[in-house]
Amino acid sequence: MSDMTAEPVISARDVRVWYGTTRGAIQAVDGVSFDLRPGETLGLVGESGCGKSTLGRGLMGLLPEGAKRDGEVRYRGRDIFAMSAKEAYGLRGSDLGMIFQEPLTRLNPLMRISEHFEETITQHEPKLSKDEVRTRALEALRMMGIPPTRYRSYPHEFSGGMRQRLMIALALVLRPAFVVADEPTTALDVLVEAQIVQILNDLRRNFDTALLLITHNVGIVAEACDRVAVMYAGRIVEQGTVADVFSDPQHPYTRELLASTISLSTTGLRFIPGSPPDLVDPPAGCRFHPRCPDAMRICATTSPVPTTREAGGTVECWLRGPRDLTPAERAPLAHEELSDADEA
Ligand SMILES: Nc1ncnc2c1ncn2[C@@H]1O[C@H](COP(=O)(O)OP(=O)(O)O)[C@@H](O)[C@H]1O
Ligand code: SF4
Ligand SMILES: [Mg+2]
Repeated sequence: MSDMTAEPVISARDVRVWYGTTRGAIQAVDGVSFDLRPGETLGLVGESGCGKSTLGRGLMGLLPEGAKRDGEVRYRGRDIFAMSAKEAYGLRGSDLGMIFQEPLTRLNPLMRISEHFEETITQHEPKLSKDEVRTRALEALRMMGIPPTRYRSYPHEFSGGMRQRLMIALALVLRPAFVVADEPTTALDVLVEAQIVQILNDLRRNFDTALLLITHNVGIVAEACDRVAVMYAGRIVEQGTVADVFSDPQHPYTRELLASTISLSTTGLRFIPGSPPDLVDPPAGCRFHPRCPDAMRICATTSPVPTTREAGGTVECWLRGPRDLTPAERAPLAHEELSDADEA
């Protein structure tokens, strides 16, 4: 478990990211704040298109060209957003590690696994001897359950699950203090998935790594994370400890998300009706209001502000404060308005 008194490894404050497109600016991340301490794992969940990957890449200083950003991301007190590209690049590998979604596209098919490791390690520690580099690489592979006999193989000679573990070994060989894992288990079978969760858990225990685990698998969050942040349309709408948020979800979106996951494995399909909004022109007020079963009049016009959950953490919903609503504000949003908004 993490030490809650330790200084955060990562502090994000009011992080915003836009993409310019011909249709207008996509506000992919719209004011996100959180802290992560050594050894702590934060699960980031939400439907596809809610800005999870953008946030993850933003924290690493790895946004594509053309993306604009604002706010602050402090890594051990230094603002990554204020650094030069070169400075931020220097943190990669030894301080910041990223595990991407699609393993094959990140490995060079023409390079042996050994060459991938040599390149990564010597970039940061140019003085290491070839033997030392090899020792480190083999140690990282061993941790991921990949036999040393495979060291000189090419990426295509591995199965999908093994390639994913290779990517993890590569991302972790320099023991970064902060790792973002973006849906590391999506394409994998259940067995490999369990192994990866195990590896991630070992990692923070052994090296005090702080981990942001992006996933749409709520079960993985329950198994592998201390805290959870629920993202919807560019904002974290609820966050807190896994135990607290999962047993007492206070945001209607969290509730629906949990219900859709649980019923997938038990009573059959239950999806949240509708889909996340277009982030070029998101709905006014609460961005979830067109889909929210509890929507009130105020929700259609005025954005809710974060309030503190009783057991810590935050929730951003008019049902939870921060002030008492007037009867007019509290009136349920009429059904026609709901379906109008749905069609829009
Ligand atoms: N490189 C990009 N250029 C333009 N828009 C992008 C880019 N990457 C993501 N987006 C848009 O940003 C929004 C958030 O996407 P993303 O961060 O991938 O969400 P998630 O990981 O939760 O699925 C989506 O509307 C997506 O289409
Ligand atoms: S603010 Fe209103 S619309 Fe948004 S989640 Fe809460 S009740 Fe639903
Ligand atoms: Mg994503």
